[in-house]
Amino acid sequence: MCGIYGYVGAKEAAPILMKGLRALEYRGYDSAGIFMIPSGVVKAKGEVSALQKKLPKKLSGTAGIAHTRWATHGAPTNVNAHPHTGNLKRVWLVHNGIIENYQELRDALKKKGNTFVSATDTEVLAHLIEDILVNGNAKNLEEAVVAALKRVHGTYGIVVMDAEEPDTLVAARLGSPIALGIGKGEYFVSSDPSALLEHTRNVVYLNDGDVSVLTPEGYSVLARGKKTNGRVPEYLDWDADSIQKGGYEHFMMKEIMEAPEVLVNSARGRIDKKTGAVKLGGLEEVRPRLKDIKHIVIVGCGTAYYAGLVGKYLFMELARLPVTVEFASEFRYQNAPLLKDTAVLAISQSGETADTLAAVREAKRQGCLTLGIVNAVGSSIARETDAGVYNHAGPEIGVASTKAFISQLEVLALLALLFSEKTLSAEDRRRYARAIDRLPQQVEEILKQKDTIKKLAKKYGRARDFLFIGRAYQFPIALEGALKLKEISYVHAEGYSSGEMKHGPLAMIDGSFPTVALVPKDATYKKTLSNMEEIKARKGPLIAIATAGDTRIKDIADDVIYIPNTLEPLTPILSVVPLQLFAYYLGVAKGYNVDKPRNLAKSVTVE
Ligand code: G6P
Repeated sequence: MCGIYGYVGAKEAAPILMKGLRALEYRGYDSAGIFMIPSGVVKAKGEVSALQKKLPKKLSGTAGIAHTRWATHGAPTNVNAHPHTGNLKRVWLVHNGIIENYQELRDALKKKGNTFVSATDTEVLAHLIEDILVNGNAKNLEEAVVAALKRVHGTYGIVVMDAEEPDTLVAARLGSPIALGIGKGEYFVSSDPSALLEHTRNVVYLNDGDVSVLTPEGYSVLARGKKTNGRVPEYLDWDADSIQKGGYEHFMMKEIMEAPEVLVNSARGRIDKKTGAVKLGGLEEVRPRLKDIKHIVIVGCGTAYYAGLVGKYLFMELARLPVTVEFASEFRYQNAPLLKDTAVLAISQSGETADTLAAVREAKRQGCLTLGIVNAVGSSIARETDAGVYNHAGPEIGVASTKAFISQLEVLALLALLFSEKTLSAEDRRRYARAIDRLPQQVEEILKQKDTIKKLAKKYGRARDFLFIGRAYQFPIALEGALKLKEISYVHAEGYSSGEMKHGPLAMIDGSFPTVALVPKDATYKKTLSNMEEIKARKGPLIAIATAGDTRIKDIADDVIYIPNTLEPLTPILSVVPLQLFAYYLGVAKGYNVDKPRNLAKSVTVE
């Protein structure tokens, strides 16, 4: 789980590499490093800015590699930072992923006289490639990389340089993302295409097993050892501004504020406003198979998993389909027998989460139809699922997911509508279409209350624990609200179904333990209201997320945030917005870097 960047061309590489690293910092930020010929290597512990400070004024080289790290093997230190090299300091390499058999390779290389300076698995790979290049029968770096990778178990996205072939980069991928940026007389390598946009919009995604050689003259791709005719680059029409903060102090705030636009983009051209008919282009190919689906298993991690939980209620209610939702990290080890008429739906913003990808592969192995709801175009999950729907939420840089979650909920609603051809009346379908159409404007209204929510964050800022409760569609939002608070403000928070209050959590409630109650006017309104009464009777402070016009709630709750009225299955899209803002303001008030919470990374490409 790291960011890697490479450049080869005619320009000075250092500024390009450093900019690339800054764009990739969300993938890891505990140490960083850069290597260029002839300038050599510079590494620094800490964020990319620490590396920037350490760089000598004059750096020269028109090819280079760079890395921003999130430690897996070995502490975040200077020595463990990438790029790594072999005994002869000839081969240099940056790596994202994990080399599982590194110990074994290391022992074998030690016997040959190699000495290791770091505690990383990556260093072993640099030694191995160098050993094959110098002592084996590889003619050049490409051959040495191909031979070395045959001996490696694990996952990698790598970019490698040979000090004796300074104008060549070799990139390879297995399990960790690599995108090539195709310029004119210059080429780029990045873990994420968004970091390429400034230079080129023509992008080639490497597949698992690909090895690519890039020089100022061109690039080639070897697929599982076989020559290809190269790959036709895809054109990315992303708006370059969307990867900048756009005037906000943090990406997280910018991304929360983008929610109305995201809701428009995620539904654009996909639902007929008048009839409610849904058309999802990415599913057209498998449409005949969808008719036979009798059961859906949703897999995801973190926030994407909670979106899946909302999806469960949606599919069950609208399409009358049985659904189970699993943490992808659990699913892959459950050895679950899947029925042939099951569709496995993977939800992932990055499309690169290792556990979710593994779950997709397991489902495929068992012959199930695999579907994806993915934001990152061309990512591994997008490519490996049989079919899917892109979120069109644009790049999400803040580590804690906000706008992508909202988009996931909307796409799930569209998908449930697609599956509900036989179960919903034409009139109901039209009601949904109208309600979906109103959502962007309704979110806008909630966002206007951000100063009120900021004040609430201040008022409750000293609490050490929070409880979030909700029922039915609001239960997953209670879980997500608690997760957001944990991630961003490091405050202990728990999400609970309000119906479970009496089975345990009520015992914790006292005057210093606030509860956020999700209590919109829906089928379980009165039930949750009673739970709130129970909390109030124990002097627990109460913040309610309630439907506009509900005056009664003011008698029970200490504070109320109102959300507009919509159909119950769509309410999560509205009720989560105040919780995202609440977590944001609490984290900012505590002085934390809300875009990069400690110990967390945006894209978890290792187990
Ligand atoms: C990490 C991120 C979360 C995200 C989760 C799943 O934990 O910090 O925000 O929800 O991974 O990521 P995915 O890219 O698969 O949605």
